[in-house]
Amino acid sequence: MTPSERIEALRRQIRHHEYRYYVLDDPEISDAEFDELMNQLVALERARPKLVTPDSPTQRVAGRPAATFETVEHAAAMLSLDNAYTEDEVRAFDERVRKAMGEVKGSARVAYVAELKIDGLSIALSYDQRRLRRGVTRGDGFRGEDVTSNVRVIKAIPLRLRDGPAGPLEIRGEIYLSRAAFERINEEREQSGDAPFANPRNAAAGTMRNLDPAQVARRGLSAYVYQLVARESPTPGRRASGKATDEARASQADTLERLAAWGLPVEPNWRRCAGIEAVLAFCHEWADRRRSLQVGTDGVVIKVDDLELRERLGATSKCPRWAIAFKFPAEQATTRLLRIDVNVGRTGAVTPFAVLAPVRLGGSTVQLATLHNAQEIARKDLRAGDMVLVEKGGDVIPKIVKAIASRRPTGPDAPPPFVMPTRCPACSTELHRPEGEVVWRCMNTACPAKLRRGLLHFSSRRAMDIEGLGEALVDQLVDRGLVRDFSDLYTLDAPALEGLERMGRRSAANVLEQIERSKTNEFWRVVYALGIRHVGERAAQVLARANGSVEALMSASAESLEAVPEIGPVVARSVRAFLDERRNRE
Ligand code: IVH
Repeated sequence: MTPSERIEALRRQIRHHEYRYYVLDDPEISDAEFDELMNQLVALERARPKLVTPDSPTQRVAGRPAATFETVEHAAAMLSLDNAYTEDEVRAFDERVRKAMGEVKGSARVAYVAELKIDGLSIALSYDQRRLRRGVTRGDGFRGEDVTSNVRVIKAIPLRLRDGPAGPLEIRGEIYLSRAAFERINEEREQSGDAPFANPRNAAAGTMRNLDPAQVARRGLSAYVYQLVARESPTPGRRASGKATDEARASQADTLERLAAWGLPVEPNWRRCAGIEAVLAFCHEWADRRRSLQVGTDGVVIKVDDLELRERLGATSKCPRWAIAFKFPAEQATTRLLRIDVNVGRTGAVTPFAVLAPVRLGGSTVQLATLHNAQEIARKDLRAGDMVLVEKGGDVIPKIVKAIASRRPTGPDAPPPFVMPTRCPACSTELHRPEGEVVWRCMNTACPAKLRRGLLHFSSRRAMDIEGLGEALVDQLVDRGLVRDFSDLYTLDAPALEGLERMGRRSAANVLEQIERSKTNEFWRVVYALGIRHVGERAAQVLARANGSVEALMSASAESLEAVPEIGPVVARSVRAFLDERRNRE
């Protein structure tokens, strides 16, 4: 085999395994075996750079971060969907379709395709010669942003189609984050001091706005496609139709089958329904079953199956007349708001939260709800003691929709409005709110609440992994002044620990042994454990590998940090700022 043949053969193998893993979710080889294939390809291509093509699996992340995204016009407008919240509204949609069709040639039923409504952000993908050329966000429906470099790193989206027409195609779908990826990102964000995303949709949208594809790649976005549109020139009057190409056969069901056959990811639970009652059955079925899926879904998209019928139905300026989105009911419950507490985060952000009387909601018991900030509480006029309506939508933590005003005592018994504390609940330092921001912060670097959170992160499993150094112990160490910073952990001795509550000789020895053992951790864990803002596990690994020692890291300039692959300006500046702080250097 010539090198060029060897390279092509490897690419074919890798594409096949990417497809098995990311599209079918059914791998045939282990991760290590896959990495081995990839390493071979990287080595071969490195030796012969002339043979590298943009559709090579090695070329998902290529080039430096962009300065901005370019705006591009959609060939056909990306419309949105009308919503239906009740069965009656779904039936009314069916009535409208049938009326417009003149009762569909005598037969009373219209065939529909019911698809899960993916909770993500819409994307238009252009392929030509079966190669991925461009990815554009929905934007305002007429113009979106060219996010091709970010789309290329999404492994479920083929850089090259397995099959299908060679001519230009536009395929539309949704980019989303799986629940697992979402949870991992939020864990990392909390540990690196960033506010967690409220739901997978926000996380996916926030990620796609990142100008650095290397960072996007780490997030593990995924995608599903559901539409094939013509690549016609934008002629007025035609734009809103989203006309199907000759390439698509006569129905949505066929389109989905073909997209899947071309190697594109299609959500597998769609169903062809012979009439609206079958569609409603699908909606009922998935209202519960959706919880078993990795992808977040907030409803069912109901589409007329026959593409010709669709053409005849057309669209309004905003929405097609041939489809509607049935929204799953948000889960709500009423309970009592016991009190409003505030929490001090590792970065000093002081945020209020609601303590609720425990209530069952969407399959679990909840007793906490987010309140975001003082302004939000004032806007909703929430008061301790109120009966409140709580809702669990796509968000992790439930939110309070409103207080039930009619159930609040009036006159002298009325509860007083919430007042945001002006001082840190942990160290009494006056809170500070930077201009234009809504978050109050404790700026005291020695604040015990911040220290507590920092120590818990430092000792956590993925950081220094010090077993036994949990909340109860951390609280005592901080309260008694035994630990004022991370390094104090390493001067603790048995007499100091044995004096603490619930600390026998044996557990003290165990903790000390764990602390001792943590000295042999790999360097990246130390970098991660420090809790530098924006430095998650992956960035810590990259930084540690590039710098080798704490001395090298401390003397690295922001420029040299930024020169490290995968490290962007935000991370570089944050690391530098952390290491410039005298207390941290010491
Ligand atoms: S079809 C003309 N199918 O929901 C619009 N949309 O609320 C045709 N969405 O903008 C869209 N899953 O981004 C369609 N299976 C699905 C979908 C889906 C999610 C999104 C899409 C659309 C939004 C409307």
